[in-house]
Amino acid sequence: KKVVILISGRGSNMEAIVRCAQREKWPAQIAAVISNRPDAAGLHFAQREGIQTAVVDHKAFEGREPFDAALMQAIDAFDPDVVVLAGFMRILTTEFTAHYAGRLVNIHPSLLPSFPGLHTHQRALEMGCKLAGATVHLVTADLDHGPILAQALVPVLPDDDEARLSARVLALEHQMYPRAVRWLLEDQLQIDGLVVRHRTGES
Ligand code: GRF
Repeated sequence: KKVVILISGRGSNMEAIVRCAQREKWPAQIAAVISNRPDAAGLHFAQREGIQTAVVDHKAFEGREPFDAALMQAIDAFDPDVVVLAGFMRILTTEFTAHYAGRLVNIHPSLLPSFPGLHTHQRALEMGCKLAGATVHLVTADLDHGPILAQALVPVLPDDDEARLSARVLALEHQMYPRAVRWLLEDQLQIDGLVVRHRTGES
């Protein structure tokens, strides 16, 4: 099987997935890492690992439709079974999400459906939340509201600020995202509307 990972910046989740695939010897190949930003730091890691990289710069397009069409073309050149958004910071058109329905996955740094969108950690702190976490979900046209594949928790500690909380959540993301991608690749998930069950009952 083949995986294409989309990034916009640091790419630490992409790195975690690549490392996990290597360590666990997945019967899958990370076929390409594609960025919408030419300066995304994660591209260097991918190149060092011998993974093909591509840039589809959103600034070169007039609007979302032509950008998404070019992005789809770049992705489909690698014929992926699963497309992973890993800190990919563009809102996608319904054409795009429909084209990859059931095989497009994202990680969001909150316990969805709480705090969709940006600044999740700051908002959780302002709301006095005692728990935070991350969610892996399938991407649908409804931003940050697709079927939930996996969720995990961390505590919010009394002295937390955005940096400390986001670092704790990020460490969790690096554990859970590779696992959820593997489930999807191995067809371990039964998807019934918004409700997803692991075939073996794992969660
Ligand atoms: C992560 O917190 C992820 O949940 C969010 O964007 C951040 C990306 O970090 N969608 P990285 O680029 O994977 O390091």
